[in-house]
Amino acid sequence: MKKFVSLTLAALMAFSLAACSGSESAATSSQSVAPTEAPAANEAPAAAEAPSASEAAGADSEPAEGTEAAASETTDGGNILVAYFSWSGNTETMANMIAEDAGGTLFEIEPATPYTDDYDTLLDVAQQEQADNARPGLAATVENWDSYDVVFVGYPDWWSDAPMLIYSFLESYDWAGKTLVPFCTSGGSGFGRSLDKLPDSAPGATILEGLHVSGSSVDGAADQVAEWVAGLNL
Ligand SMILES: Cc1cc2nc3c(=O)[nH]c(=O)nc-3n(C[C@H](O)[C@H](O)[C@H](O)COP(=O)(O)O)c2cc1C
Repeated sequence: MKKFVSLTLAALMAFSLAACSGSESAATSSQSVAPTEAPAANEAPAAAEAPSASEAAGADSEPAEGTEAAASETTDGGNILVAYFSWSGNTETMANMIAEDAGGTLFEIEPATPYTDDYDTLLDVAQQEQADNARPGLAATVENWDSYDVVFVGYPDWWSDAPMLIYSFLESYDWAGKTLVPFCTSGGSGFGRSLDKLPDSAPGATILEGLHVSGSSVDGAADQVAEWVAGLNL
């Protein structure tokens, strides 16, 4: 009997380890979590994570929709754009790492009407946007889009998909001849359904293997990000 219990426990442990090991890896396929369920506690942003300054800013401080905004920072890779949306800062941290490793220009994708700062309200807003297949307005557009050959696009997983704002962004540009490199942070779902949807919203783009990092691990992910960027051979 004892032996049976030990064997059962060993099997359970092996299963848990296998289940955990895939949470921070380069994405080769989409993962899916039922969109009708609220993100589990371990998938939610930590309570201590405050919304980014840009999210906290009022609508009046945002450029009007359709206006062109210069990207916020330029480094060596003149043909590389690192575009990202981040509500509570994790994806922004990853975007900064990528910009440092790959060079290029950072561009924050922001909604014309800022999202609420309240997490619980945001869960409902995000779920409704997804149910409506909405395309929320963008605060600004990328200047000199034609000058970029490679565009990293980063976002948090929202309800096992990209925020609808990402599809607004993708569908605002001509992707013919561009290389799109997705990256994502989440509580554990990874890219969710978003990888399967990117080609329709960015027709003509060559889509490279993306990287997902767990939001709670992003601060320590610099080496992982650097290795991934180097492997892209841009
Ligand atoms: C509206 C909303 C929905 C979310 N849905 C999921 C989900 O389905 N699966 C998951 O693993 N994490 C989910 N999360 C957690 C975020 O993906 C995670 O905290 C991410 O790192 C946040 O990135 P950010 O700080 O750049 O906004 C959700 C968070 C929010 C705010």
